[in-house]
Amino acid sequence: MNDAFPAVGFDVARIRADFPILAQTVRGKPLVFLDSAASAQKPRAVIDAMVNCMETQYANVHRGLHWMSERTTDAYEATRDAVAALLHANDRTEIVFTRNSTEAINLVAHSYGRGIMKAGQAVLISEMEHHANIVPWQMLRDAHGTELRVAAVTESGELDMEDYAAKLADGRVALVAITHMSNVFGTYTPIERIIRLAHENGAKVLVDGSQAVVHRRVDVQALGADFYVFTGHKLYGPTGIGVLWARHELLEAMPPFMGGGDMIGSVSFERSTWAHVPHKFEAGTPAIIEAIGLKAAIGYVEAIGYEAIAAHEAALTDHALARLATIEGLRVIGRAQDRGGVVSFTMQGAHAHDIATLLDRQGVAVRAGHHCAEPLMRRLGLDSTARASFGIYTTHEEIDVLAASLERVREFFV
Ligand code: ALA
Repeated sequence: MNDAFPAVGFDVARIRADFPILAQTVRGKPLVFLDSAASAQKPRAVIDAMVNCMETQYANVHRGLHWMSERTTDAYEATRDAVAALLHANDRTEIVFTRNSTEAINLVAHSYGRGIMKAGQAVLISEMEHHANIVPWQMLRDAHGTELRVAAVTESGELDMEDYAAKLADGRVALVAITHMSNVFGTYTPIERIIRLAHENGAKVLVDGSQAVVHRRVDVQALGADFYVFTGHKLYGPTGIGVLWARHELLEAMPPFMGGGDMIGSVSFERSTWAHVPHKFEAGTPAIIEAIGLKAAIGYVEAIGYEAIAAHEAALTDHALARLATIEGLRVIGRAQDRGGVVSFTMQGAHAHDIATLLDRQGVAVRAGHHCAEPLMRRLGLDSTARASFGIYTTHEEIDVLAASLERVREFFV
């Protein structure tokens, strides 16, 4: 697959042909899938890699001396190399596999939070976090006596940098946990500045890259982050596999998250010792087939190239914002300067769930609701929005279909 794309140009028709699911029609109309921020579709390369593993060599990893286990272990561990290269990690041992971003954040909240942070220290998040980057910190606060601070977002859907700086200023924030790209607004946070300010005030930084890594090249060393998390299923890979990247010295200092097989050095009834990093954090049989699928997904995305992907999605977003601006009563939520392919909106007189249901009848799949960001909805004075989100396979024509379908929704409600 890696040779499948030319270095220049972006052939969306050719990309679409790699995604079998997109060839479907829905009620006689071509499927228009605009819900990639919730979970992206899978290219043939990912499906084939997973099926091929199960058909030819599948066995458990790190345990067997037979050829099947060795070969599958090599394939599983090759994903660690691919993720380390994707994120520009310093070392492959900085990559811990988890089930998803949520588990990666919970790992840090338990292990770094309870193991290293002290009661009275604070975690600073923002108002535009996903529940996955709120609830683990509340649980840490309640169990461990840490404080939870929340930096404001502005009306345009950007981080309020003055409020952020003010909430760091007393030096009691041990950890900033913040999104790289909002799943509601599509806003990219000014992550380098955020990290610099945090470090100046003595805080480490966890970046939730669940949305960003899909659309932009991420270099954790250039960012200067301390922890970076993402999930495979939004990056055109399978569900059930996520990633925690952390600086090696942090992982060394952190106690294990879960206990069990594969994370130990030795076990007796009196005491156990831990495996080396990163295996110390990977208890039990991991998501082997899913990891192999994730490597194929990374290979697929890299073969197209982040620069081409970002340019395609920027053009789609501009087109969507221009088309939606012409629809009477429709309000786009969030007007950040630096934004990616996620557009949330409301329509006067229509509930977001009704919008999504009526769009679905026209073959257009969008998400509606609070997008796992209830506090942000409350901050905006809303209970829900409809949200269209784009991927590498999204076309300008699909956005035109969305706009035309929204006109019909509007006619229905006036
Ligand atoms: N976090 C995913 C979304 O934003 C599920 O839709």
